[in-house]
Amino acid sequence: MAKRKILVTSALPYANGPLHMGHVVEYTQTDIWVRFQKMRGHECWYVCADDAHGTPIMLNARKQGISPEALIEKTWHAHKADFDGFHIGLDCFHTTHSEENRQLAETIYLNNREAGHIESRTITQLYDPKEQMFLPDRFIKGRCPKCGAEDQYGDSCEACGSTYTPADLVEPYSVVSGEKPVLKETEHDFFRLQDFEPMLREWTRAGHLQEEVSNKLDEWFEAGLQPWDITRDAPYFGFEIPGKPGKFFYVWLDAPIGYMAAFRKLCEEKGLDFDEYWAAGSETELVHFIGKDITYFHALFWPATLSGAGFRTPTTIHVHGFLTVNGQKMSKSRGSFITARTYLEHLNPDYLRYYLASKLGAGLSDIDLNLEDFIQKINADLVGKWVNIASRCAGFIHKLGGGRLADSLADEALFRRQAEAAEAVAEAFEQRDFNRACRRIMALADEANRYIDEHKPWQMAKEAGREAEVLAVCSMGINLFRQLAVMLKPVIPATVAKAEAFLGGQALAWDDLHQPLLGQPIEKFKPLMFRVDPERVAAMVEASKDDSQPAAKKAEAKATDQPSQADGDAITIDDFLKVDLRVARIARAEAVEGADKLLRLELDLGGETRQVFAGIKAAYRPEDLQGRLTVMVANLKPRKMRFGLSEGMVLAAGDGQGIYLLAPDSGAQPGMRVK
Ligand code: 2FM
Ligand code: ZN
Repeated sequence: MAKRKILVTSALPYANGPLHMGHVVEYTQTDIWVRFQKMRGHECWYVCADDAHGTPIMLNARKQGISPEALIEKTWHAHKADFDGFHIGLDCFHTTHSEENRQLAETIYLNNREAGHIESRTITQLYDPKEQMFLPDRFIKGRCPKCGAEDQYGDSCEACGSTYTPADLVEPYSVVSGEKPVLKETEHDFFRLQDFEPMLREWTRAGHLQEEVSNKLDEWFEAGLQPWDITRDAPYFGFEIPGKPGKFFYVWLDAPIGYMAAFRKLCEEKGLDFDEYWAAGSETELVHFIGKDITYFHALFWPATLSGAGFRTPTTIHVHGFLTVNGQKMSKSRGSFITARTYLEHLNPDYLRYYLASKLGAGLSDIDLNLEDFIQKINADLVGKWVNIASRCAGFIHKLGGGRLADSLADEALFRRQAEAAEAVAEAFEQRDFNRACRRIMALADEANRYIDEHKPWQMAKEAGREAEVLAVCSMGINLFRQLAVMLKPVIPATVAKAEAFLGGQALAWDDLHQPLLGQPIEKFKPLMFRVDPERVAAMVEASKDDSQPAAKKAEAKATDQPSQADGDAITIDDFLKVDLRVARIARAEAVEGADKLLRLELDLGGETRQVFAGIKAAYRPEDLQGRLTVMVANLKPRKMRFGLSEGMVLAAGDGQGIYLLAPDSGAQPGMRVK
């Protein structure tokens, strides 16, 4: 088999938060593939880095009272410890805030500019006059222009799902200072993605992507490729654009270049040839593992920026689905937002590696970490099937063979069959269909256990004169165990390292599937892995619960332009009961001068009157509302608005088209509590 040269990457984690189970899915998936390639004898390098730039990191550091440099340094060490804890065998873990990355980002930018793929344009953006900074969409909030819901982000409404631009928000305010943003002009550079349409249309159908991904890209081509804004104004934590003081590369421009930067660092450490891997026409393989939320950046922007700058494009972009825990989005209140660290404090990392492998197919389906199933699977497969083979055989080898394996195989045909069957396992690993690989490995483990069951060494051992037979059967069993260890090594490397020590200390390679271990001493058997303790799992979930976060803090944590899998959204019944919902009678309704969408309502709560400004003018004439019953949030903190104080909120349904005020059934009285 020709030796391949492969450079592999996982998506770069943001340098302002802990790694969680969602990250671990991707790093485990990548690491298994890399370990498999290395075991097959290929030259395979695995690099990653922290994604260190951007507004959220700058503001997060400010909030902590430290410099962004200090924040990303601290996070880098925490991430490194987590990678090591899960045995993610990175050859280099770097950061995008590095000299290598600065130089490469400048080269890619300047080459593209030189080739005419970058144009400058003046645009108008919302600006925080107090903080003197332009605001990313997610740092502006206000009332939804469609349904009137309060406190919605600048790009989309969580209440009605409509999307819009921040300038459309009603009464926008800056999440950073609370001030009303103003419109301000600024000159930005745009990467002309549309120049690459022919190249991308061809590239995305040339076997670099899963079919589902290519199909998704067709939709994006149909929607039309737009120029991409790659500039951010100061203050910004990132790299200043050459020749443009006060202008910085947008974090997503230099993030994937971090793959190159990490590899450049590795080249310096190992004396590798950077150009062999990155020059146009390179014959090496470049394989990126990513989650489906960042496909656009990787399958369109990234090949285009590389190609425009005269570099090679990726060989493969492998996209995986999202992780759910117990069938739902990870959530802090349910204790399913499990960080890598919390997991490691409670459970063996190889449990999770195996479980995730058994779930990961080659496609984009989401995968579920079901904690009950997790316990069952590890106990049944790894402990019950694989480890069990060794524990059933090792004792007799010490008792009857002085700890030495027999000199020949008792069933050579079975050994050969298992070695041949391992080719299908290899094929499944190669295709990143780890679910199939695990199923095949366990089918082989079943066969090995059947072999032992059929020969019943424990019974033979009771009969005088059958010692050699017992030794032969148990040596055969150990050899089958060893072949399975070879196949499992990419998935559970630390446990297989213990198996290697038990088998005499030699590091197993894929070719060892064909070489039996004969006449060699083995160590006394020590349990390689314990059954999963359900109490540890429960303790991990408990430790992951965070009921203490006040709602305001949660909202702040969500104020980021970076996608996250954690919702933190689910509320308990207690949370819900904090909302004081009351039946209210609209005593008076009138238009508000100077406001297009608002009506001023006077609401009678059965003795108490409240003033509320509601964005429902498009749907109702004031006179039609007078006397009607509706439902209001009565304990909302009063908000000072340009027109006066708003002392609550009325509830309405909306679909982006219409607005439908909620009303109680007849008989309800003003002031009644809604439960
Ligand atoms: O989505 C994210 O978490 C990004 N930090 C991934 C970056 S991957 C690459 F492009 F750098
Ligand atoms: Zn809305």
